[in-house]
Amino acid sequence: MKIFKEIEPLRAFLKQFRQPAGLIGFVPTMGALHAGHRALIETSVKECNYTVCSIYVNPTQFNNPVDLAKYPNTLDTDIELLEKAGCDVLFCPPHSEMYLHQDHIRFDFGLLDKILEGEFRPGHFSGVALVVSKLLNIVQPDKAYFGQKDFQQYLIVSKLVADLNFNVELIRMPIVREPDGLAMSSRNARLTAEQRKTALVFYQSLQQAKTRLQSGADFEVVKAEIKSICESKPEITLEYLALADTTNLSPLKNVTTQSVLLIAGYVGEVRLIDNLIIAE
Ligand code: PAF
Repeated sequence: MKIFKEIEPLRAFLKQFRQPAGLIGFVPTMGALHAGHRALIETSVKECNYTVCSIYVNPTQFNNPVDLAKYPNTLDTDIELLEKAGCDVLFCPPHSEMYLHQDHIRFDFGLLDKILEGEFRPGHFSGVALVVSKLLNIVQPDKAYFGQKDFQQYLIVSKLVADLNFNVELIRMPIVREPDGLAMSSRNARLTAEQRKTALVFYQSLQQAKTRLQSGADFEVVKAEIKSICESKPEITLEYLALADTTNLSPLKNVTTQSVLLIAGYVGEVRLIDNLIIAE
């Protein structure tokens, strides 16, 4: 696997692999790679001739400096995982390569970046859109792979790509879960053994909510039930449980043919998100 830290040498190198010679697949990440990332890389390796992964902990998408400072950095094991998964190129730039100045542009996605994650992490999606735009311009992939765990991020990136006419096909890949159901996340590494067990409450809440909704319960009733389960666990702070339309995340009262349940909250100091598609 070739490793680049600078944009221009990466661009020059990738030129030879562009169509008609072959398809370039791209997996943007912030590192601390796990089986969820591996699934994205392996799919790109299967579907494309050449796979590029980026590892860049993007400061503009963190509204909480503590979260940014504590974001896990496991570059050596990440490189091993990428090599095993068949990745061809890793782009891991320093901040100076990605941000020439602090006065960068801001994105506004209307309601989509103000609700759910946007409400609890103001400015987060503007930072995501900025770095994803930069990365798509740098790598110019034919296909880019994103995980369903960041459901709202996928919709934001889809809108970005459509509105700015990026010449890339986006692929949304299913959530990869631990055997007990916990969604894989780089942040799981920060949980103590006890917190790791408690964290399961989010997935269990999604499953319970799905079952209740499918048997005809009203979402507001279900939400109150889940809230009280979460409140009974001292380590858990529930930020939101939402039932929303899969295409634009507008809130729903009952299940429709395109519904997703989304949940977010803290286990101790670690913020986790998860979701479950009911129908789409
Ligand atoms: O999902 C992530 O890891 C990040 O938000 C992304 C897409 C790599 C942008 O920094």
